[in-house]
Amino acid sequence: MRKTWYREGVVYQIYPRSFQDSNGDGMGDLPGILARIPYLKELGVSIVWLSPVYPSPNDDNGYDISDYRDILKDFGTLEDMKNLIASLHEAGIKIVMDLVVNHTSDEHPWFQASARNDPKYADYYYWREKKNNWTSFFGGEAWAWNEERQAYYLHLFSKKQPDLNWNNPAVREEVQGILRYWLDLGIDGFRCDVINIIAKADGLPDGRPTLILQGREHYLNHPKIHGYLGELREAVLSKYDCFTVGETVLIDVPHALGYLAEDRRELDMVFQFDHMNADCFFVKWLPRKFRMIRLKRPLSKWQNGLQGKGWNTLYLENHDQPRSVSRFGSDAYHKESAKMLATMIYFQQGTPFIYQGQEIGMKNAGFDNLEDYQDIETHNMYKMLRKMFHFSHQKMMRTVKLASRDNARTPMQWDETQNAGFTTGKPWLKVNPNHQSINVAENQTDPDSILAYYQKIIALRKAYPIIVYGDYQDLQKSHRKLYAYRRTYEGQELVVLCNFSEKGLTLRGGTDFKGMELLLSNYPAHECLYDLQPYEARVYYKK
Ligand code: NOJ
Repeated sequence: MRKTWYREGVVYQIYPRSFQDSNGDGMGDLPGILARIPYLKELGVSIVWLSPVYPSPNDDNGYDISDYRDILKDFGTLEDMKNLIASLHEAGIKIVMDLVVNHTSDEHPWFQASARNDPKYADYYYWREKKNNWTSFFGGEAWAWNEERQAYYLHLFSKKQPDLNWNNPAVREEVQGILRYWLDLGIDGFRCDVINIIAKADGLPDGRPTLILQGREHYLNHPKIHGYLGELREAVLSKYDCFTVGETVLIDVPHALGYLAEDRRELDMVFQFDHMNADCFFVKWLPRKFRMIRLKRPLSKWQNGLQGKGWNTLYLENHDQPRSVSRFGSDAYHKESAKMLATMIYFQQGTPFIYQGQEIGMKNAGFDNLEDYQDIETHNMYKMLRKMFHFSHQKMMRTVKLASRDNARTPMQWDETQNAGFTTGKPWLKVNPNHQSINVAENQTDPDSILAYYQKIIALRKAYPIIVYGDYQDLQKSHRKLYAYRRTYEGQELVVLCNFSEKGLTLRGGTDFKGMELLLSNYPAHECLYDLQPYEARVYYKK
C-alpha cells in the first residue's frame, strides 16, 4: 500500500467566514486564521482545508468565484494569504484550497464576456435557445435567461453560478493555469467541489422524470470526466507533491474506484455521502429518524469496498451538513456521544477530516426564525417545498432546524463572551447561544474535554500505523446499537466498540478483546468489562 503524508495526516476544515474575525467587521478572515495557528498545532492536525477565499459576490458564500487568483477583500489580501501559507508551513501544517470549477460566478469576467458573445469566451459556458428539463441542486429549473445574449445558460446550482463548459479545451487550460498558480504559491492540494459532475452528455439531452435532480444521469460521473481529470493529473498535479480530494456527489464504490485507481490517480480520495442519509431519505430536506444501522452499513460498505484499492475520507461534518452530535449523538450525553462518534469514525481506514467546532462538540444552530438563516439553499428549499407539497411554515421550520447548512456555519465558539470570541463586531450569522457552555476556552481547562479527546485520537494516529493503514473488518454486523470493528496490520490488532444508545449494553460473543490493552475510552472506569455504558466507546490494542 502506498504510504503518503496525506494518508497519514489529519485534515481540519476551516469555513473562513465563521472561524475568527480579526478586524471587527463580523466576518472571519485570514489574519484571524493566522492568529489561531497555535490552536491548530495544539490540536495536532497536519493539514488545513480552507473553504473558498477567492473574490466572490457571495451568492453561495464563496462557492461562486469571480476571480480565481485573488482573495476576497473581506478575508484579506494576497499578501495575507502568502503569509498564512508560510506560517502554516512553518508550524508543520499543509494547506489545501477549495477548487470550484464546475461553475463560476456570473460576475466572473469570463461569463460577462461570454454573455457579450466575445468570440474568445462564447463557448466557456452552456448556452441554449431552448432549455432542457434539468433541475438544480438548489431547487427549481437549472436554466436562466440572459438578456444580453438572448439565450438560456445552464446552472446546476444558483442562477449566479453558471456551469463551465468543460468540452472547451480553453476552459480546461484555464483550470490548469489556476492550479499551477496556487501550487506555485505553495498550496499543497485541492478539495475539488462537485468534481464528478463537471462533464455533461453531448447535446444535454432531457432527463428522466424524477423528483430530485432531474437530468442527473447525463452528468453524474459522465465517462468524459476521466479524460478531463487525467489531463489535469498529467499536465499539472503530477508535477507537484500535492493531493486532491474530490467532492463526489451521489457516488458509489465502483465509480469511486474509477477515480482512485492507483495507475491513474485521477483523484487521491473522495467524499462519499451514503452515510449522510442515516437520518434522511436521499437528501437532508427529507428527514427521517436516525438509525445507527443506516450509518454503519454504508460506512462498512465503503471500508470494505475501497480496501486495498483506494482510500477513504473519514468525516461526519462539513459546511454543508448539520452538526453530527445533533444528528447522531445525544443532548443528555453530549460529551460522551461526541467522543464516541469521533472514535467510531476516526479509527477506520482513511484520512480524517474534522470540521471546525466539531472538536468541541458544537451543535446545530436551532434558530426559530427563518430570517436568522442566511443560506441560499435553505431559502430556496423552504420556498420550493412549501410550494410543491403545501407544507406549513411550522413544518418547514422543523425541517430547516434539522437540515439547514447554517447549522454548521454559526461562528466558531472560542469562549463564553458575547460573540463567543469570534468577533468584536456584529457577526454575519448569529452565534449559537450555547457558546456559554460549549466553547474552546472551557474545553481547554478540562483534561477530560471533547477537545482533549480529539487531541488524544490525533496523537494515537501518529503513534500507531495500524490506525492509518490497518485492514478493516466488521464485528457484529447487524447489531442495531453496537458499532464494532477490528483493524489488523502486520500482526497487530485493534478492536473498536461503540455504543449508540442512551442505555447500557452488554457485550455478547463476537467482540473478543481478551488479553488486549485498553488504548482509549470515553469513560473513566469500567465496572464490568462486558458492559458498555451509554454512548461508551472503547479501543483495544494488541501488538
Ligand atoms: C458543494 C459545496 O460544498 C457547497 O457548499 C456549494 O454550495 C456547492 N458545492 C456548489 O458549489
